[in-house]
Amino acid sequence: MSADYQQNLDPSKVVYETYKNEEQIGIMMKMIESELSEPYSIFTYRYFLNGWRELSYLAFYEGEMIGVVIGNLTKHKSQRLRGYVGMIVVKKQFRRLKLGRKLAQMFIDKCKELGADEVCLETECCNIAALKLYQSLGFAKVKKLMNYYLNGNDAYRLKLWFTDKVGREEIEYRQQEELKKLQQQQEKEKENQDEKEQEIIQDKKEQ
Ligand SMILES: CC(C)(COP(=O)(O)OP(=O)(O)OC[C@H]1O[C@@H](n2cnc3c(N)ncnc32)[C@H](O)[C@@H]1OP(=O)(O)O)[C@@H](O)C(=O)NCCC(=O)NCCS
Repeated sequence: MSADYQQNLDPSKVVYETYKNEEQIGIMMKMIESELSEPYSIFTYRYFLNGWRELSYLAFYEGEMIGVVIGNLTKHKSQRLRGYVGMIVVKKQFRRLKLGRKLAQMFIDKCKELGADEVCLETECCNIAALKLYQSLGFAKVKKLMNYYLNGNDAYRLKLWFTDKVGREEIEYRQQEELKKLQQQQEKEKENQDEKEQEIIQDKKEQ
């Protein structure tokens, strides 16, 4: 499809529906496989789609599936009710038309309506488009997950809070960040001290 097609696309003609039946899974898998680096089996799709149909939103343009968001809503061990975005994809030819934002927003709104405390997701550290989208929706990075994906790439976990109950994960993350800062500060102090010692030695040599 050409860039002209994207320019002529009328976003008001995009229809959003929740998942209907197994026939849609094949089309969805084909669309997602060509857009995401991580491969997912049909069981993963079934898990999300059959378990949380109300949290699946499919976008259609003139009958063609052009975008999707799927995920779940479960009680986390921190006791917080957590929405989780499993996958979100917009076909290349339909990007930058606010469809990704719309799909993500519908997912978030539904989680809120169902009583979620937060929504969480992971994305590759190098996925600028996704990071910008999520951050513009209010998500914040809470963790870096090293070698998270099969391709070896690192991920960020991002979170959007609806309530101010602080979960265990946040507390752990904040503690790690504090520790990192402290270590950096100590390293800097040590560097300064080494520099000073070197200066003193140099001065003594010159005397
Ligand atoms: C991420 C993705 C779903 C965004 O879909 P989209 O419909 O193109 O996004 P939108 O048009 O709604 O953009 C919303 C905001 O996201 C950001 N954004 C989206 N694409 C961007 C890009 N290529 N570069 C920089 N920012 C981008 C912008 O802040 C944008 O707001 P703006 O248009 O007002 O500047 C899409 O790029 C995609 O399908 N990528 C491949 C699959 C993927 O990576 N999914 C996420 C995995 S967690």
